Amino acid sequence: ANLVAVIPAAGVGSRMQADCPKQYLSIEGQPVLWHSVSRLLAHPRVSQAVVAVSANDPYVGDIQWPVDKPVHVVTGGKERADSVLAGIRYAISVCRADWVLVHDAARPCLRAADLEQLIATSMSTNIGGILAVPVRDTMKRSDNGAISATVDRTALWHAQTPQMFPAAELESALASALTAGATITDEASALEWAGKQPLLVEGHADNIKITHPEDLALARFYLQQELV
Ligand code: C5P
Repeated sequence: ANLVAVIPAAGVGSRMQADCPKQYLSIEGQPVLWHSVSRLLAHPRVSQAVVAVSANDPYVGDIQWPVDKPVHVVTGGKERADSVLAGIRYAISVCRADWVLVHDAARPCLRAADLEQLIATSMSTNIGGILAVPVRDTMKRSDNGAISATVDRTALWHAQTPQMFPAAELESALASALTAGATITDEASALEWAGKQPLLVEGHADNIKITHPEDLALARFYLQQELV
């Protein structure tokens, strides 16, 4: 089966308060996006990558990708799901993808062993799955800043990426969900919307999504430690 990585990288990263979008900030001499893409391509089952960037992105052309596998660049969209859909469509029509592995550009610390676990688990089912970690903290429901309830955390997980699904099925679920106006913040939610139950594959909390300024230092630390 042809497995293609799709990396949404068309966000502006407004919460980072940086000079350039967070996927282009540098860690160990390479942009965050380079690390994220390289970790996906390092897996022998991943044949190529499709990166979705914003229109007139001035940064992506300067990246020196790992040379052994193709990296395609396409134009993303207004919301993350629009960028993912553009990438998946390219992966299907040009790369002939059977499966897609969708991974946030802003998650450079993905562990090879977690990626392997997700790929093995997803391929052994027809549904696909996502990396996720169980919630650690006690969870509260807020009612205008005051606690209205303590939520049972035993069934709660943090959804991460990568998220891996049969390409055509994810394409159709995403397109239908977007057309219907559903709120889609990850790939699994599109499949859930279509009535599927994607698998949860337990990963690690160091697979952070760089979101706030303090996250960059943490990602640097993880990458330098080779813990990941
Ligand atoms: O903003 P957020 O952290 O949720 O973004 C997650 C990922 O989706 C990032 O890699 C970002 O670049 C990407 N994204 C995108 N197109 C958008 C918005 C976000 O590709 N319109």
